[in-house]
Amino acid sequence: MASFEHSENPVAGRALRLNDPAPVFVARTTMGVRSLTDYRGKWLVLFSHPADFTPVCTTEFIALEKAADKFRALGCELLGLSADSIYSHLAWVQNIEERFGVTISFPIIEDLSLSIAEAYGMIDETSVSTATVRSVFFIDPEGIVRAQVHYPATVGRSVDELLRVLTALRATEVGDVAAPEGWRPEGTLLKAPPTTMDEVRARLGANGGASQDWYFAEADRG
Ligand code: BEZ
Repeated sequence: MASFEHSENPVAGRALRLNDPAPVFVARTTMGVRSLTDYRGKWLVLFSHPADFTPVCTTEFIALEKAADKFRALGCELLGLSADSIYSHLAWVQNIEERFGVTISFPIIEDLSLSIAEAYGMIDETSVSTATVRSVFFIDPEGIVRAQVHYPATVGRSVDELLRVLTALRATEVGDVAAPEGWRPEGTLLKAPPTTMDEVRARLGANGGASQDWYFAEADRG
């Protein structure tokens, strides 16, 4: 029953870009009907997987479930999606519980019509099947896409990296700071580079350390 509000998708017809509004949908999930708007006020990690009852997807689901409390502690909910039916989703979730002793606590969307997958660009256009790729969308509390990644079916995602990206998005949302390569929560953020000569002069006048320069400066620890 996935339905999709075209009136609420001003970016229909092209690939989703960063800072686009996430297309609004209403869909059947393993935990009842969910709309994207149910998640307003929270961060949301919306992720697709190629198909149910597949081994790599099963490892991702188990890892996501084990980290679900860490996502929630960052004010973020998890929401999965595949083109398989709700009955397939339910049987797979039940099998994961039985075989691996892991109870999946996040909903999984049924998208038989592929309307959500198409709106979000979760389908490889060269594919001959309905399988979605491994997409992840980080959607902020106002419904804006802040980050996205797409992996092929053959490469499982790192849940640790997804958590790291979410943590970095949260740490930098105050503005004027950025997370450097491999940043971790205990690490130092960098100041966004200056954009005016006044800012350059102010930076040059500041008493920076040896590894600082006008374009490269550590942010103050908050
Ligand atoms: C998997 O999740 O194991 C998988 C799915 C589609 C293609 C290859 C692997």
